[in-house]
Amino acid sequence: MSVVLETKDLVAGYLPGVNILNGCSIVANQGDLIGIIGPNGAGKSTLLKAIFGQVNVRGGGVELNGEDITGLKADRLVGKGVGMVPQNNNVFPSLTIEENLEMGLFQQPRMFKERFEFVAGLFPELGKRRKQRAGSLSGGERQMVAMGRALMMDPSVLLLDEPSAGLSPVRQDETFLRVAEINKHGVTIVMVEQNARRCLQIAHRAYVLDQGRDAYTGTGREMLNDPKVIELYLGTLATDVEEKAKTSTNAVVGDESSDASESESKDESK
Ligand SMILES: Nc1ncnc2c1ncn2[C@@H]1O[C@H](COP(=O)(O)OP(=O)(O)OP(=O)(O)O)[C@@H](O)[C@H]1O
Ligand SMILES: [Mg+2]
Repeated sequence: MSVVLETKDLVAGYLPGVNILNGCSIVANQGDLIGIIGPNGAGKSTLLKAIFGQVNVRGGGVELNGEDITGLKADRLVGKGVGMVPQNNNVFPSLTIEENLEMGLFQQPRMFKERFEFVAGLFPELGKRRKQRAGSLSGGERQMVAMGRALMMDPSVLLLDEPSAGLSPVRQDETFLRVAEINKHGVTIVMVEQNARRCLQIAHRAYVLDQGRDAYTGTGREMLNDPKVIELYLGTLATDVEEKAKTSTNAVVGDESSDASESESKDESK
């Protein structure tokens, strides 16, 4: 299986003398959906920014398909096949959906029709509402525009920073389904998520980031049931949660979302 994206002992930070990443190594193979979880301030967003040339890398490196891309700027990286959806401000609100998607393709405008059809196939509502301004869309819809824009360049790897943050439980579910669907179309994905449990449910493999280091790794399933990961980051066993979901559905019809509402209110309190 070929390696698409690899960070090797990445050291990076914003302020002189203060490193946020302290030797962070992750690997994404072709077709992987990689989850990155960990506490607030662990350096998850910084990892994606360091890969995407937005934070100074002070040690280690980043490789894309075996090529050293450490420190290249975002526009070069987009040209090489790295797509990024940042945590905030990821659409141009005054532009229409269609114009936002065009912005994603500024390096290859002739590909527009073909790529637009691909993105509209994944997100039919974007195709139908192409003339609507992105600023008038809901949070979940904006997230789709942002992902659609990153997909316009047909990236070999897509970096997603907390795609479900701030969304209602229903929209969160939808976002995770869309991410899994994009991945099924062959796009390798590295997804940072605050909603660790949901992330691990769809991730092939995941990393726990702690204080700027890859502290644990395993398959999504292994991590959901790993006592260390549970104790530190999840709180309960996956099987307990499944049991709880079953009993609560029996007790109160439609109460399955209680877990999600809790985690959503946590997200919103950030
Ligand atoms: N632009 C910046 N300048 C200086 N320090 C920063 C900057 N951005 C982030 N940091 C610091 O880097 C550390 C890691 O931040 P980062 O945003 O990577 O965390 P995170 O794991 O994404 O957290 P969250 O779950 O809250 O999104 C934090 O201590 C933060 O204060
Ligand atoms: Mg973050």
